[in-house]
Amino acid sequence: MNAIPLHAIRACVFDAYGTLFDPASAAARCRDVLGDKLDRLNALWREKQLQYTWLRALQGRHADFWHVTGEALAFALETLDLGDTTLQDRLMNLYLTLDAFPEVPQVLERLKAAGLKTAILSNGSPDMLAAAVSNAKIGHLLDAVLSVEAVGVYKPHPKVYRLAVDRLGVESGAIAFQSSNAWDAWAASAYGMRVVWCNRYAQHPERLPGKPDFEIKSLAELPALVGA
Ligand code: LAC
Repeated sequence: MNAIPLHAIRACVFDAYGTLFDPASAAARCRDVLGDKLDRLNALWREKQLQYTWLRALQGRHADFWHVTGEALAFALETLDLGDTTLQDRLMNLYLTLDAFPEVPQVLERLKAAGLKTAILSNGSPDMLAAAVSNAKIGHLLDAVLSVEAVGVYKPHPKVYRLAVDRLGVESGAIAFQSSNAWDAWAASAYGMRVVWCNRYAQHPERLPGKPDFEIKSLAELPALVGA
């Protein structure tokens, strides 16, 4: 019997948006203009952003996450009668400096101190991810920042999860993948990774191939699961 719940893990790989960085923190800084439309804008922007990644993947018409995020925002602003280019530009700029969730730096420090590899695996474009990592001052705590741009298709295509295996040189069964996006967690599990679903948003379990090994509410619970 091994006392470590997720034993024999060699690398911890993280989704970015919603898991390490708070996508709602951009609009929260525009509360002055958004008023009571703030929550609806956040929900619609995120929903459209993800839909567009899946739809583009199905169509074989990839455009990077910066482009898709901008188009999703334009749709959301127009839907909520907020369509103006100044607000669009302001929100997009803020998306480059999203807040990291408060526990993130300490969790990464503990994982590194325990000798684990750490990485981001995200839909985000390399520039977006570099900006978020730099803003959160966590670059020195990450061995790799992997963008789907390297494979030209979005999650949950298996090529994306394979990218982490190839770049880290760690087999899928020795990777703990963390995502707050349930569909992403299920897909990584179906691919063969061990998965910790960081269910920050109190989502319900997916009915899709795969199944996370553990469910937590904040990444602060992760180090204990991997023995760090
Ligand atoms: C990402 C999105 C799915 O960072 O949150 O890949």
